[in-house]
Amino acid sequence: MTIDGPAGAGKSTVARRLAERLGFLYLDTGAMYRALAYKALEHSVDPGSEGDVLALLMNSVIELVPDGVLLDGEFLGPRIRSPEVDRAVSRVAQLPKVRLELVARQRAISEARDVVMDGRDTGTFVLPGADVKFFLTASLDERVARRRAEMQGRGFAVDPRALEAEMLERDRLDQERTVGPLAAAPDAMVVDTTGMEIEDVVEWLYAATRRRLASIRS
Ligand code: DC
Repeated sequence: MTIDGPAGAGKSTVARRLAERLGFLYLDTGAMYRALAYKALEHSVDPGSEGDVLALLMNSVIELVPDGVLLDGEFLGPRIRSPEVDRAVSRVAQLPKVRLELVARQRAISEARDVVMDGRDTGTFVLPGADVKFFLTASLDERVARRRAEMQGRGFAVDPRALEAEMLERDRLDQERTVGPLAAAPDAMVVDTTGMEIEDVVEWLYAATRRRLASIRS
């Protein structure tokens, strides 16, 4: 199953809870891009240099574990969600060869198990044959408010105007890139989560998933 959408649409919380309820593996593709961006910053590698970032990736083991990501065996925790990583990851995610390598790793993980994968291109590019696909959206105001609350919860002060400008810029970069742009797959169910509680979104997606899986398997 795939869940795509822009930042702040509620994907990761929903995907994690849905995976728990279905007994599927939760695969946070954004965390893989973030771990790589974190490593680039740590090694003073330019996040916009395709050759250097790819070389770094080829020497990196990125493992997704239930509550985060391990980079070369080290648990990164909230370090992948800092404002510095936010800025670097948008650039890392533009690099076509880096994307192709990460996509190959994402496909390899999902071959062995049923997964709920969340990201930007999972329904269109990583797993185009997935049985169930969702695309979550929300108004810009709501996405900014959610992201702000999340950052404040982690102890980062945020100026809402600057955050809004940054999120619009990230959306633009995500939508305009040539490899794996942010887009709803033609067969994805599009859900606008504006004004919805996360629990209600999870319920809605869970019910829709059960119906879809029952219709496929009957
Ligand atoms: O979902 P997130 O905010 O953790 O994603 C981090 C960054 O990685 C974001 O800039 C978009 C990018 N990304 C991507 O390009 N493709 C994915 N499948 C997942 C994330």
